[in-house]
Amino acid sequence: MDFKSKIKTIEWIKDKNVSRMVDQLVIPYEYKLVDITTSGDMYNAIKTMIVRGAPAIGIAGAHGMALAALEIAKKTQDPLVFLEQLKEKAEFLKSSRPTAVNLMWAVDKQYDYIKNCTKNVNEMVQMLIEHGIKLENEDIEINKKIGDHGAALVPKKGATILTHCNAGALATVGYGTALGVVRSAFANDKTIQVFADETRPRQQGARITTFELAMDGIPVTLITDGMSGYFMNKGMIDMVVVGADRIAANGDTANKIGTYNLAIVANYHKVPFYIAAPLSTIDIAIETGTEIPIEERSREEVTHINGKRICAENINVINPGFDVTPAGLIKGIITEKGVLYPPYEKSIRQAFNTY
Ligand code: MRU
Repeated sequence: MDFKSKIKTIEWIKDKNVSRMVDQLVIPYEYKLVDITTSGDMYNAIKTMIVRGAPAIGIAGAHGMALAALEIAKKTQDPLVFLEQLKEKAEFLKSSRPTAVNLMWAVDKQYDYIKNCTKNVNEMVQMLIEHGIKLENEDIEINKKIGDHGAALVPKKGATILTHCNAGALATVGYGTALGVVRSAFANDKTIQVFADETRPRQQGARITTFELAMDGIPVTLITDGMSGYFMNKGMIDMVVVGADRIAANGDTANKIGTYNLAIVANYHKVPFYIAAPLSTIDIAIETGTEIPIEERSREEVTHINGKRICAENINVINPGFDVTPAGLIKGIITEKGVLYPPYEKSIRQAFNTY
């Protein structure tokens, strides 16, 4: 069932030809929209995480391609030169973050949409704008389908669902993947509640998940990352649902660092552990999770909180942004095509054949 969420994370504004997005760097203190007007600014918005979350950065990439097309069309009306320069911009946009495959998927989808067409440059620009809007609208519809398939898995009335990072409306165009499951479940049962873990180092769980659930009136309890085992041991968690940044053809899943720990703890306590993600997050070109590129992020994310150092100076720090949960720990992958179950090699292939 559909739940009305107030949040639209990213939107193409037609009369201005800009991409308008929620600035996620100032949440939870402010809810501010920013207009991105150039492909260079889009690259920076993705890299600095003004926009974040795999499906949301995919749409940001698609909008970035439309902005790039507008820029190139001011300089040339030669279709071949236009396509050549657009290809360069596509590679540039894709290099903004490495792990979430939705970015590569959406940018490539935009380029492939026009690469063989015989239209003039201005027509191709228009096609890219319209196609970007289509991908944007489809994202919400896909999330609602994921939400409905996932809601059917909630084991009991009044269930407590634990999630990690933010795989919500703010990680997508709207509604969310893991939090889409929560929203659909909440539409049927108002006694559902969420446990959100903090998600160090960038605290997407504390800053963004609690913010968006509170905004939509869904009960949420914040815990720190190390507390999940304690609450599972007490029988207080009925289900874990998280998002994904890239899923290999065998079901191994990259998601925000800490997801792997959570999956181990959930399996130990026999709490069902699900991934919720669109098919655009599945990279069938790679066989296993070992091939997924893991983003290395700055040491300051670990050593500082809100600009204040929290540890001794001159120490070693390693900060991988994501980890890979082996397929064997995942009970099911909730997609817009339904729930995929092990063996994932087979169920993923089947889902793509009917895509
Ligand atoms: O570094 P982030 O905040 O972009 O990481 C986001 C996540 O890991 C999400 O769980 C994932 O992208 C799924 S979003 C529906």
